Amino acid sequence: MPLRFSLSSLIVLCSFTAILAHNNEDPTIKTMEDFSGYPIHESHSHLSSLSVDAQSLQKQIDELSSFSDTPAPSVTRVLYTEKDVLARRFIKNLMGLSGLSVREDAVGNIFGRWEGSNPELSAVATGSHIDAIPYSGKYDGVVGVLGAIEAINVLTRSGFKPKRSLEVIMFTSEEPTRFGISCLGSRLMAGSETLAEALKTTVDGQNISFLDASQSAGYTKDHNDISSVFLKKGSYSAFVELHIEQGPLLEEEGIPIGIVTAIAAPASIKVEFQGNGGHAGAVLMPNRNDAGLAAAELALAVERHVLESGSIDTVGTVGILELHPGAINSIPSKSHLEIDTRDIDEERRNTVIEKIHQSAISIARKRRVTLSEFKIVNQDPPALSEKSILDAMVASSKELNLTHKLMISRAYHDSLFMARISPMGMIFIPCYKGYSHKPEEYSSTEDISNGVKVLALTLAKLSLQ
Ligand code: GLV
Ligand code: MN
Ligand code: MN
Repeated sequence: MPLRFSLSSLIVLCSFTAILAHNNEDPTIKTMEDFSGYPIHESHSHLSSLSVDAQSLQKQIDELSSFSDTPAPSVTRVLYTEKDVLARRFIKNLMGLSGLSVREDAVGNIFGRWEGSNPELSAVATGSHIDAIPYSGKYDGVVGVLGAIEAINVLTRSGFKPKRSLEVIMFTSEEPTRFGISCLGSRLMAGSETLAEALKTTVDGQNISFLDASQSAGYTKDHNDISSVFLKKGSYSAFVELHIEQGPLLEEEGIPIGIVTAIAAPASIKVEFQGNGGHAGAVLMPNRNDAGLAAAELALAVERHVLESGSIDTVGTVGILELHPGAINSIPSKSHLEIDTRDIDEERRNTVIEKIHQSAISIARKRRVTLSEFKIVNQDPPALSEKSILDAMVASSKELNLTHKLMISRAYHDSLFMARISPMGMIFIPCYKGYSHKPEEYSSTEDISNGVKVLALTLAKLSLQ
């Protein structure tokens, strides 16, 4: 028997109190108005089945984690690989089972739609990603996709009928693992001409082009199709993403729901140094121009420049450092670094980028190597959540008797780009010790259920607006 966390008792309790406080009406008569705050037709007024099927949601999370290129508990699921294609099939199947009509765009963003009673109105959307960086965990992104499908099930079981259509979106490649660009699907949906143009020539680490990889997964091979992914501003009246916090605050403070007010501004940079290489025994130290040591110096400079900002909110990471030819007895002739830097203050983040650039130039000069590439791959502004969505999320948490905390997202999300074309908001749930992007990532079934409840209520409210 699936373990069901009944929402009805909570909602009855909240409504009961509210009704008693307001007009002393019979608290046993419940309508959707009680929990949504917005009027709804009487025939949709049954709350008895409003519940999260926590056990099957957990089963789906576990099953999805088995589509991985590395052994459990780690998860590795990279864009357009065989495992990604299997995982996509799994998601489309679940969407279908939930009664959603499924479509995919040219790059594989997947949409599951529940048609509202007024098709003239723009839809309310929710969703996240299921790609997983190498050796990561099973909750990042996944909670926002499987949880969104479950939120639809919650609403269906409750007898709710949406006025605005509801859409669940699974975004293509939120992680930059394969082609070096984050939020590929949502960036395109938000109309990034720069990315569309770059994808003409983008290749992965094995020199496979984006378009060949896309075709191998069943999506477009024609560059001209890419602009069909762009969506008009206003295509959605709201976008809400459910996600694990990826930080420790909610767990430390014992708060079940985080309501995101803003997403920090991310940037990423690719750098390459070239030297002459040579024999590790025969070339004497004064005669070397070691591209590896230039990379090492730059990595330390990144840390220094980030710390110089004086703010705890400025961060920088050298997550990729490759040396060529990669032999113990060969002086590196080429080095490749990829640098990730973020801040909630865009200008301060830009100052760090500028300092990193100056350091790369001076290190190259000092070490007599060539700075053959300094490429800012992306330098995105931060995004703010929309007040109307914040209000809906806060009201939902309160009605569910779940305490919440307003907070910043230091990680980026597809919401950062959806905010360019739609009012946006995010719901966070606690995760164990704030762990993420590693196999120890974990959120409890109860915390996930709470997030799904808040998401379902928020979607219901926004659908009726
Ligand atoms: C998303 O995965 C991020 O790196 O913030
Ligand atoms: Mn991630
Ligand atoms: Mn994520």
